Amino acid sequence: MKKLVAELIAKELTDLTVEDIEKSIENPPKPELGDFAFPCFRLAKVMHKAPNLIAAELAEKISDDSIEKIDVQGAYLNFFMKKDSFLKTMIEKIAAEDFGSSDEGKGKTICIDYSSPNVAKNFHVGHLRTTFIGNSLYKIFDKLGYKVERINHLGDWGTQFGKLIVAYKRWGSEEAVKEKGIEELMRIYVLFHEEADKDPALEDEARLWFSKMEKGDEEALKVWRWFLDISLEEFKRIYKLLGMEFDHYTGESFYIDKADAVVEDLEKAGLLTESEGAKIVDLSEYDMAPCLILKNDGSTIYATRDLAAIKYRKETFDFFKCLYVTGQEQKLHFKQVFKVVELLGYEWAKDSLVHIPYGLVSLGGAKLSTRGGNVIYAEDILKEAISKIRTTIDEKNPDLKDKDEVSRVVGVGAVIFNDLYNQRIKDVSFNWEHILNPEGETGPYVQYTYARCSSILRNASDYSFSSDIDFSLLSDQASVDLIKQLYRFPAVVKSASETYEPHIVARFAIAVAQAFNKFYHDNKVLVNDAALKNARLSLVYLTRKVIRDSMELLGIGCVEEM
Ligand code: ARG
Repeated sequence: MKKLVAELIAKELTDLTVEDIEKSIENPPKPELGDFAFPCFRLAKVMHKAPNLIAAELAEKISDDSIEKIDVQGAYLNFFMKKDSFLKTMIEKIAAEDFGSSDEGKGKTICIDYSSPNVAKNFHVGHLRTTFIGNSLYKIFDKLGYKVERINHLGDWGTQFGKLIVAYKRWGSEEAVKEKGIEELMRIYVLFHEEADKDPALEDEARLWFSKMEKGDEEALKVWRWFLDISLEEFKRIYKLLGMEFDHYTGESFYIDKADAVVEDLEKAGLLTESEGAKIVDLSEYDMAPCLILKNDGSTIYATRDLAAIKYRKETFDFFKCLYVTGQEQKLHFKQVFKVVELLGYEWAKDSLVHIPYGLVSLGGAKLSTRGGNVIYAEDILKEAISKIRTTIDEKNPDLKDKDEVSRVVGVGAVIFNDLYNQRIKDVSFNWEHILNPEGETGPYVQYTYARCSSILRNASDYSFSSDIDFSLLSDQASVDLIKQLYRFPAVVKSASETYEPHIVARFAIAVAQAFNKFYHDNKVLVNDAALKNARLSLVYLTRKVIRDSMELLGIGCVEEM
């Protein structure tokens, strides 16, 4: 429609291209100002005429079947389109199977490195954030036709495992680890630090065990592998609750045999310098602290393994982009690592490697019943959300089918939605009353609207969508506003992908739900008049479709009844 208007204007203004005109056409802020507005200020210079005169003359000349009227407001041409054809075009687009999708990513691969919890440590609320954001970005880029590799870069290597082995041998037991899993590993790890304060020799012992691990000692690796399995089992339980998956569980340990090659590359490029026995890349020229590559005992560190991972991923996936979703406290780390890659001569590092930081979670407003100590487990939060929803269902709708699954989808969805509703970088506050409020700007509110659509369609019994609609019956303000809202979906997906901001999709889902509830409040759907009923049902059907697709992009499911 915008293009059509641009073409009509271009016929009268031969100096400008259709594309140029299309770019300057605006969407008026208020419906009284029409569907499109074209400002004539820019033309005044070229045409040597006052902009309001140009506007008045243009308005005289342009006419078309699809245009209801053109209003001149000063230097603006306000176009009012014939509602029927306008609505028809939009509705047909919205109804298309691939509405919101595109093929912009065809032939391109994006690696997303996210979630990446640390073995033998609890999966905490920060890890929930990276998991939600990363998963949503996966869905968004997948929708745009990219091939996405979902990579879980587990923190499964480092000196802490030497400490854990020592602690386990001294104070641990197989039964306790089997029974309590990560909780027990955390307990003996804390104990190690307490004891090492009194007896520093423990630290040497731990270093020894870690170096044994690095040398491939079977005894050391056996214990490490066991801790890894136990941790993975817990992490996978969380992913299952969330309904989320990965393509690769390639943690830091995956890169230990690939680190030598990186050191060699750096050596060859003349980038390595010695500092107190350690090897570093000096970044002072770029106002950054040096990037440590090898410790003075020759062992690799976090950054070394990230460099090896970039090399591996580029060779294996030939990525168009590689995204890293972590807390903002790792900003410097990624800046250093990306700079080192660039200094190695890889120009693509500048555009292809992207750190996607996010803010903290503040648990101030939430009373959480968690396992011992002050440690907060993400799994406990999710389970609490599920059980709170379950209690409400048992009270209000005890006969509901699939109560367990509905509670999971709604409980988990509420937590995800709350997390993704604001800009990434903002801190997330956690308040049960808000998160679960079916009338707030929440996951349950959107899911409730979806379920309402489903219920209306069920009650209409024999309804099936067809675009054979009397569009003039949908020209009331609430219907038009709803259609316009739905129609934004592809632009929303695009802008979320460009900014790596799932909150744009979350806000859109709320806007659609609100527009629908206004429409539903103003218009009775199941009326006797068959044509009117059919027209209104089509909006219920399309709203349901777009809500489902946008929630899907957030990693949140919808339920038919709740
Ligand atoms: N394991 C790290 C953490 O929990 C996150 C790893 C992020 N990915 C990476 N390639 N460094 O903070």
